Amino acid sequence: MLVSAKDMLNKARDGKYAVGQFNINNLEWTKSVLLTAQELNSPVILGVSEGAGKYMCGYKTVVGMVSGMLEELKITVPVALHLDHGSYEGAIKCIEAGFSSIMFDGSHYPIAENIEKTTELVKICNDKGLSLEAEVGSIGGEEDGVVGMGECADPEECRQIADLGVTMLAAGIGNIHGKYPENWQGLSFETLAAVKERTGDMPLVLHGGTGIPEDMIKKAISLGVAKINVNTECQLSFADATRKYIEAGKDLQGKGFDPRKLLAPGAEAIKATVKEKMELFGSVGKA
Ligand code: 13P
Repeated sequence: MLVSAKDMLNKARDGKYAVGQFNINNLEWTKSVLLTAQELNSPVILGVSEGAGKYMCGYKTVVGMVSGMLEELKITVPVALHLDHGSYEGAIKCIEAGFSSIMFDGSHYPIAENIEKTTELVKICNDKGLSLEAEVGSIGGEEDGVVGMGECADPEECRQIADLGVTMLAAGIGNIHGKYPENWQGLSFETLAAVKERTGDMPLVLHGGTGIPEDMIKKAISLGVAKINVNTECQLSFADATRKYIEAGKDLQGKGFDPRKLLAPGAEAIKATVKEKMELFGSVGKA
């Protein structure tokens, strides 16, 4: 059964480790993440962006696929199915479809509007026992080939949003989605410490987990980060393994064209990436 992310994140915050959110894009991906979490006895959060939800035939299909896998693969570790960077409308759709956790990203709205919409979702999620992530300070990344630098959130705005009663808070601390540019300044631990000071026990979320050096990941965890999102690194390892398989000519010979064989190296590569991250985040054995 899918669970809210609340307990796993509170435990992670207290135990000074982080739970990984791995974004899923298809059946193979999902299976790889779930099997790795089970093998390592780690809690896990499956992230679904609105685009990935659409690609996988809508949120109900995703809920059906993941719920079916939990049962058929006999997954017993805690698993949350989480909307990633949701709009208000997307959040409502995912709640109706049976997601167990929601991110409402109101960071692009003026703070008053972010507060208003987040407040409404806090009520709905509390009633249904779902966890809710809010965001302050937009997390940059590559858009149309232009890589934007990550913003740093205003710690006072973080306090205002945390006080609404969300389960977890994503605050921009110079992190960005996708690959980090050569001239990246690194995470702003000054901002993170200021956010932590004003938000108390609130588990903090670090987006853009791909490419952040290990020492920065560890320091972020020590300063209150309890959830780390990883997407691009799984995409890269999946694509690289698939490319190698095709370049080896295997898709053209014998039964190499069989989609189950064609996608197997990518699925194995995702398992390796998820394992590496769970070990780094310290969530192994914490289920
Ligand atoms: P990366 O794609 O940089 O790993 O970031 C993932 C993320 O933060 C999803 O919300």
